[in-house]
Parts: sequence; structure tokens; C-alpha cells
Amino acid sequence: MSTPDTVRAELLARIQSSDQPHEVLRAPELRALADEIKTLPPEQRANAGRALNELKQALAVAIDERQAVLDDAALAPIDVTAPWDANSKRPDLLPTEYGSRHPISVELEHIIDIFTRMGFDAHESRQLDDDWNMFGALNFPEGHPARDGYDTFRTEEGFIPPAHTSTMQNRVLKDGKAKLEAGGQIASISYGRVFRNEDVDATHEHTFYQQEGVFVSKDATLGQMLGTLRAFFEEYYGQKLAIKTQPGYFPFVEPGLEFLIEKPASIGGKPGDWLEMLGCGMIHPNVLSAAGIDPTKYRGFAWGGGVERMIMLKYGIEDLRHFESGKLAFLRKFA
Ligand code: DAH
Repeated sequence: MSTPDTVRAELLARIQSSDQPHEVLRAPELRALADEIKTLPPEQRANAGRALNELKQALAVAIDERQAVLDDAALAPIDVTAPWDANSKRPDLLPTEYGSRHPISVELEHIIDIFTRMGFDAHESRQLDDDWNMFGALNFPEGHPARDGYDTFRTEEGFIPPAHTSTMQNRVLKDGKAKLEAGGQIASISYGRVFRNEDVDATHEHTFYQQEGVFVSKDATLGQMLGTLRAFFEEYYGQKLAIKTQPGYFPFVEPGLEFLIEKPASIGGKPGDWLEMLGCGMIHPNVLSAAGIDPTKYRGFAWGGGVERMIMLKYGIEDLRHFESGKLAFLRKFA
């Protein structure tokens, strides 16, 4: 006759090797033990029942432990660096096409890489900001008509989805102040999404990307700025470029300039095909003061401009709307 003690080892071993350890509670051996108790003389039944309960409790503990091991094991083998379907139990149910990174992400990484190699740090810009960072800190007086030029959206609470990455300037300047006063420089780029209430066409989007630079030192010059921008664009396009500037008005720089490059022959440009790439200039003293930086001691330059425009020129893309369209035919060209 089997007893709780005689089946215990066998059932515990079964739990250890099972993928569904709780099934062991339904083992025929347990049922047989329960049936046997009913055949015992009444005075033996209580003891036998207790022994069976103890066995069941021991099995329950072993089952919990085994289940915990199984649960851990189910997580442990996932290799997060593996291709996305490698861990699937049902790869047949997964889509078979691979996606790819968006061209803006790829190109932004290239832009950031160039500037960081030039000694700039890089920050993603905010996607929700306020009037102070959008205008006030940038020397746009209240009610100044230049504010209208930015076609800003506003939330009901008065927040602004930024219309340019210049919203980061005040923060970058404030953050860099200590470094400056310790004898260093501020060299920083901000990049990210910006939003304007524009009618959309081949060259206008309500949502696009900008990159923006700020450099401040004791003796920054326009010459340094032009050298920095030329070096950047020549690295980005992988060739020597002709550059020029023309006057431009932005309340946060004085003088303010537009920076142009001549469209290279290698991508169909003819001499005299000048393309405006960004706005730039020497940071206005009021902008430095707004960040607590003494404009009689420090000078800086800044620039900012559209990212898609740079990418369009590089790859001969004719319509800005492609970038936000989600059209796979367009995106696959960059896969
Ligand atoms: N924020 C300007 C725009 O979106 C571009 C710009 C111009 C940025 C001059 C600058 C600058 O930092 O110095 O139109």
C-alpha cells in the first residue's frame, strides 16, 4: 500500500521536471491516497488525513518555487539586442517587413555628431514652452510686430509649442554662466521639433525641425561664427562650399544675418544659385542680460535654421511635406 511518504519523493521529482508544476496536484497517486483513507479503520483515518494534508502542503510549496523559477526563466533568455522577432514564441504571427529609422533622425544624428566633434554639447529642445522663452528672453518686447512673424500656436493655458529652437537660448545661457565665469566658454546646440500655424505647401509645414547653436566667450567674433558654420556645412555636405551672408532681422541678434551657401555643382547647382540655410548673428546684449550674463564682459554668436531644408538639398528632395507624411515609398528610399 502506498503512503504519503512513499509517493512524496516521486511527486517532488515530478514537480522539479515539469513545465506545469501545479498539474502534479492532480496526480493519480494523490487521488489513490485519498481513496485509501476511506477504507481505513475509523481510528486511523485522522492521522492518515493529516499526513496527506502535510504532503499536499509540501507539494504546494515546491510548486510555487518551481513556478517562480519557470517565470524567471521565461524572462531571462530575452536578448534585447537581438533582432526584434528572435524572442517571439510565434514568429509566424509577426510582420515580416523590417522598418527603418526616419531620415530626420538619421540626419540629426549626423548633425549632432559634427557639432559635438567641434566641441559643442547638444540638447533636444522642448515641445511645449512659454511666452518668456519664445519671445521675452529673446528681446521681443511685448506687442512687438516681430512676434507675429512666428505664427505661433498657443494652448488654452497660454503655453506655446515653440516656433523655433531659439526658445532654448535663455536656458543654455543660464546653465552655462558658471562655466563662463570659471574662464570657459558656452558652446551648445539645441535641436528638435518646432511648430508654426502655417498654410502647408511644398516649402512650408506646420511641424518641422530646427537646429540652433549658441557660443559665448570673452571675445567671440563674427569671423569665428562664419568659420564654424562653414566648417559645419562643408562637413555635412562632404565638400568645399562657397558661402555668403546678407542682412537679416532677428530681435535676438545684432547684427543679424542670413547665411547662404552656393548650391554645389555636384547636385545640379549653377554659379549664383545661393540658398539661405539659416539665420545667425552676434547675440544681442539684452539676451545675455536676460540670462544674467554681463554683456560688457562676454560676447556670443548664435544661429538657427531648418533641418529638413538641409536634408532636401543633400538628397534632392523637392517637397517638404514628405517628411511628416508617413509615406512608406518615401521612407524606404532612406532604409
Ligand atoms: N529662430 C530664427 C527663426 O526660426 C532663426 C535664428 C536666427 C536663430 C538668428 C538664431 C539666430 O539663433 O541668431 O527664424
